[in-house]
Amino acid sequence: MHRAQGAVSLNIAYIGVANGLLAAVDRLTHASVSELAEATGTDPGYVERWCDAAYAFEYLEEIESGVFRLTELGRAFIPDGTGTLMPFAVQAVLSAHMAERASGLMRTGERPGESVLAERETILPWFGPMLEYQFGPLLDQQVLEQVPVFRDVDAKGGLAVDLGCGNGWYLRRLARRFSNLRGIGMDGFEENVNQATRLAESEGFGNRLKFAVGDLNHFHIEEPVDLIAMNRALHHVWDQKENVFRILREHLKPGGAAVIWEPNWPANRNELRSPERRGMAFQNLTEHVQGNHFLRPEEIAEQFRNVGLHPEVYFIADGRDAVVTGTLPD
Ligand SMILES: C[S@@+](CC[C@H](N)C(=O)[O-])C[C@H]1O[C@@H](n2cnc3c(N)ncnc32)[C@H](O)[C@@H]1O
Repeated sequence: MHRAQGAVSLNIAYIGVANGLLAAVDRLTHASVSELAEATGTDPGYVERWCDAAYAFEYLEEIESGVFRLTELGRAFIPDGTGTLMPFAVQAVLSAHMAERASGLMRTGERPGESVLAERETILPWFGPMLEYQFGPLLDQQVLEQVPVFRDVDAKGGLAVDLGCGNGWYLRRLARRFSNLRGIGMDGFEENVNQATRLAESEGFGNRLKFAVGDLNHFHIEEPVDLIAMNRALHHVWDQKENVFRILREHLKPGGAAVIWEPNWPANRNELRSPERRGMAFQNLTEHVQGNHFLRPEEIAEQFRNVGLHPEVYFIADGRDAVVTGTLPD
């Protein structure tokens, strides 16, 4: 019962996140069903049923008949910055969608690719923010502290490229930290690139960060690049790894580096049993639907060596993730 209710509880939170219901109750401090429906542009009939469910699962409390305010738990899911629980709600609903697709596709072996992520219209806009709030703090607190290749880029007023950039959070965080850095991001989904452009402009980086829709397998710019990042993107294009590593090698300046951040798929199956890693095992099944699979850091290091880049491996998030850098010698 505990497990089943956990899943339902996250589904209810997701509806509150995707429709701005939790944020609206917070903004209004308290609201009736009709006030909440009006504030969010949603249907009062649906809002009433959602309020019942959100009340039952303790996201809302009732301060007088039919008037609700947020509980501490409800407030924790508002997507308003570091520490929000929103990614758990989005991940839960995305997982249910992917589980349904995997169940059907298992019969034929078909692997439809990236498009599966875009099949649910309310999920796609949350994909970028989910990753941003899950991994942004790790970039600031662990990756930038442990991985030395970033320091030089700022000193040189350098150019950083992010291939498969999602909503552009990585370049925005680098731009915040390194005031001389310029960035170019590319992603296959227009929704991601639109969000990236809008967020970069709203944070005052419109002149330093540019984003474009495109297939990273065809990425090309004339200007030599100081740093090329791929965050959770390499496993999406691993079947074209020779081309991808050629692109990395050909665009780097001498002394420049590619920085590849990926889940660290364990060497032994029994490591998947640990509570920190078991989610990765399910995610790898959903990656299979998209035509992908998770990688071991040594496989990435080997590809760097094959194109003449010097590999270094760093482990973060208690070993759940690996950052593999490949530096072009001066
Ligand atoms: C798991 S997401 C990671 C997004 C982002 N790097 C982040 O850390 O939030 C993988 C991203 O790679 C992008 N992608 C996958 N294959 C691609 C391709 N061939 N060309 C461009 N983008 C691609 C997807 O659109 C998706 O946004």
